[in-house]
Amino acid sequence: MDIERYLRDHIRTVPDWPEPGIQFRDITPLLQDPKVFRVLIDSFVHRYMDPALRPTVVAGLDARGFIIGSVLAYELALGFVPIRKKGKLPFTTVEETYELEYGSATVELHTDAVKPGDRVLLIDDLIATGGTMMAGKKLLEKLGATVTEGAAIVDLPELGGSARLKAAGLPLFTLLDFA
Ligand code: PRP
Ligand code: ADE
Repeated sequence: MDIERYLRDHIRTVPDWPEPGIQFRDITPLLQDPKVFRVLIDSFVHRYMDPALRPTVVAGLDARGFIIGSVLAYELALGFVPIRKKGKLPFTTVEETYELEYGSATVELHTDAVKPGDRVLLIDDLIATGGTMMAGKKLLEKLGATVTEGAAIVDLPELGGSARLKAAGLPLFTLLDFA
């Protein structure tokens, strides 16, 4: 099976959402079909079962990174930590503000979510400008953890995020891109 093609065929493009000019890459059809959802998650499980790449923790980015990150952590028998938009986490946090393709945002992480020595896989559905993943990396590093890899379903290379993240020393794994 051509997995890349199969997954691509289950991503819906919504023009001009949430703003004119944005081609929104909607991953909900990937989640909706149980066979496709399994192929999607197994693509990540297969990679991170490899002892050389296996993390000690999976961190997911709010909100779509929670969907795939928590299932992946469960399959890998690892814990999951959420990196949330500001104002949602109840305990003490570290925070980072960053620019998005549309607008800006602040994300937070509980101060006890990871510890020095943790090898963290940071996961989201999509990389656009890379701002969200970069902010997540900074938060995890503030707590002394190492982000061993960033992973996403989709890369939008024309927005420069994946190049920026790699230049900042973050190895990346994505399943497909939209030029
Ligand atoms: C989207 C997407 C990524 C981020 C990618 O999330 O799910 O998290 O944008 O963009 P970037 O690479 O330019 O940072 P969004 O902030 O729209 O939030 P949502 O998951 O709550 O919809
Ligand atoms: N997040 C940022 N840009 C996006 C896009 N074009 N499609 C889906 N999610 C996004």
